[in-house]
Amino acid sequence: MTLRRPALTRRGFLTRLAAIGGAGAVYHGLTTLGLLAVPPAYAGIPAYPATIGQGRRVVILGAGMAGLTAALLLSRAGFGVKVIEANRHIGGRSLTVRPGDSYAETGRPALTCAFDDGLYLNAGPGRIPHNHTAVLEYCRELGVAMEPYIFASRANLLQSDKAFGGDPVQLRRIKYELHGQLAEMLAKVPDPAALDGSLGAGDRAAFLEMLSQFGALQRQGDGLAYRGSNRSGYAVLPGAGRNPGSLWPELDLKSLLDSDFWKNGLFNDATDFWQTSLMQPTGGMDMIVRGLLRAAIPGGRTVRDLVVTESPVAEVANTATGVRVGHAKGSETADFCISTMAPSLLAKVKNNFTPAYANALGRIVDAAAFKLGWQATRRFWEQDDDIYGGISWTDHPIRQIWYPSDGFFAGTGVLTGAYNNGAVAESFGRLSHEERVALALEGGEKLHPGFSNWVHRDRALSIAWHNMPHFAGGWQDNPPEADRDAYFRLTVPEGNVMLAGDFLSYWWGWKEGAVRSADLAVEAIVARTSQAVATRL
Ligand code: PHE
Repeated sequence: MTLRRPALTRRGFLTRLAAIGGAGAVYHGLTTLGLLAVPPAYAGIPAYPATIGQGRRVVILGAGMAGLTAALLLSRAGFGVKVIEANRHIGGRSLTVRPGDSYAETGRPALTCAFDDGLYLNAGPGRIPHNHTAVLEYCRELGVAMEPYIFASRANLLQSDKAFGGDPVQLRRIKYELHGQLAEMLAKVPDPAALDGSLGAGDRAAFLEMLSQFGALQRQGDGLAYRGSNRSGYAVLPGAGRNPGSLWPELDLKSLLDSDFWKNGLFNDATDFWQTSLMQPTGGMDMIVRGLLRAAIPGGRTVRDLVVTESPVAEVANTATGVRVGHAKGSETADFCISTMAPSLLAKVKNNFTPAYANALGRIVDAAAFKLGWQATRRFWEQDDDIYGGISWTDHPIRQIWYPSDGFFAGTGVLTGAYNNGAVAESFGRLSHEERVALALEGGEKLHPGFSNWVHRDRALSIAWHNMPHFAGGWQDNPPEADRDAYFRLTVPEGNVMLAGDFLSYWWGWKEGAVRSADLAVEAIVARTSQAVATRL
């Protein structure tokens, strides 16, 4: 038997793929050929030789996720590290507010948390997706306990003044009515090949069977029809004896379309980072910060020992040999600086950056974000609405209510009573705390008639991140997409200054971005240091 050369080698296949489809196609090609694991695992907290940074100093601006991550890695690699934080609070936007804690937006009276002991509000981030592998790996290695964060319950509610008389409707009802009605329509197509060239006449049976599963269709004569289903839930729940329960009546497609629910809420749990499962640190988001702060570094110290608080930065300057950083409590000279400040804030600090760099800093757009949380007098969402965790969505400016993912059946609990961004957050930000509370009560009433009776209005916390001292907003607006030139300019060090923070990642507004960008900044410093060491040898 003669051995025949394969018509197409693997390399040839990949080269052709690249020509046709670019790098993305090659990646898929590699995975198809089994040459790459999917998804590439995060290899663990980067570990560098413990002496690589000896004799070198790095100043880090900001003690949030990115700054503390960089501080941990660099000090473990032997660098001398100092973290300069403007606020008294360590942790940046990872702010968990507990009874007795207070904070203040610029120029406003401080708010003090009056919740019962044991309750808290994650005033900043509140959830971590299961595919945020880097931050989860840090949590694992730092011993931060996690519990489920429930993003979506099918019992959550959707509400719009435009539909269903303004009444809140269970999400399951909208979702599965839509499945059923769309499936029924498609089942009427005589020849699926007309819909998609990859299908042939022989695929019709499988196509119809798939649609039946997708939409809970039933046989009707020769065809398939949607005639309601228990997926949409019950107006009266089945019981025992003579109570079979009763399903909700069907909804017509026109009212589903008019409701606009498909714009907000209905499909949010399909967004890549909001797909189940998500997690939260047990006891509050700042448990991750605490994990980082207690992490051991050489010299019998911890990361906490590296942080100087309440010391806003006044100057960042590249010098012939490194950097100089002036701050309220002193002045530092170092080989490198990592700034994790919001770019728009760093641009306002006295500096000697090149005009192109300063310009790029100013072009990253800050996003306003607003949150309000309060203690409930009883867990009415559980008792009255069978809601255990998840989020209800409304057109009202509050936009959403988060139900606690923990403490089921406890007498009380903390609801996130509003969470929004952009223009709505800006207008909430202009209101007094009392006005915000009044508006959030109005929004709560839309989703849960009677709401005002079941929350302690004097135990409410509100926060407009764009008004908080030394923060520019909740996050930055899609940096890579919004202004690619500015984003890519900022990924390149400016002299001895480099940046880290979620804004410098494809995970803006997420801890994952903060951690991954900090990893990268440290990698760049280590690379430069080892090159310098190699030249000296
Ligand atoms: N991570 C935040 C959230 O889940 C903020 C965010 C929202 C970030 C949307 C990106 C996109 O609410």
